[in-house]
Amino acid sequence: MDINSEINEGIDGWKTVIFLYNSALKEVGTKLEILNDEFQHVHQYNPIEYIKRRIKSPESIVKKLKRYGYESTIDNMVNYVNDMAGIRIVCSFTSDIYRLAEMIGRQNDLTVVSVKDYIKHPKESGYKSYHMLVTVPIFLSDRVVDTKVEIQIRTIAMDFWASLEHKIYYKFEGNAPDYISRDLRECAEIVSMLDAKMLSLNEAILEAKAAQEKQAEPVGVKAQKQA
Ligand code: GTP
Ligand code: MG
Repeated sequence: MDINSEINEGIDGWKTVIFLYNSALKEVGTKLEILNDEFQHVHQYNPIEYIKRRIKSPESIVKKLKRYGYESTIDNMVNYVNDMAGIRIVCSFTSDIYRLAEMIGRQNDLTVVSVKDYIKHPKESGYKSYHMLVTVPIFLSDRVVDTKVEIQIRTIAMDFWASLEHKIYYKFEGNAPDYISRDLRECAEIVSMLDAKMLSLNEAILEAKAAQEKQAEPVGVKAQKQA
């Protein structure tokens, strides 16, 4: 069942959709925690640094619908606002982003509606992030409702840039002077360089550690035999 058939306008409709979006955030949030725990269990490594989740505020919903040229109705909100329920996954390295995206895509009960790879194709602003729009089935007592969740996956460095850029742009209400936009794009490039450097550093560390362990192995085995 799709969320559209669930709603009727007014307070009841509003409460129902918010309840569904909150449930969807819980479902997807738990899935991500399990994936992260499993990864820790198997590889002794956590791809996720932290997760943020939020339901879009009524002011932002109205603003967005207005920007799209739609009236502020619950119907329009459900149909046209894809990020009513949003989850942001912040990872350590760029490679973790694709690993997580793949793991999310493989979850049988999630449907991936669309993907936007702003890492391979950054936005004009310099914004980088991997976006997935998914639906998750919410099992109610008498029916199942597929509910949309927007997942944004990015590194700590990308998150740092996006948070500050958002604040700066908010101050200018989208009309920042050219030199500020240019400087922000430059900062985005520095952030990308930092991500690339951290990734290669991590790979070098892992290789060095593996080599060390390999060297140490025969000694350990010898010591065991002597004992
Ligand atoms: P909206 O941009 O939300 O109207 O929807 P859309 O369909 O264009 O989705 P898109 O994938 O472009 O962006 C959705 C979300 O990504 C936004 O709500 C922000 O959280 C984030 N985002 C997109 N572009 C930027 C950007 O230039 N700067 C920052 N800081 N965040 C961005
Ligand atoms: Mg946009």
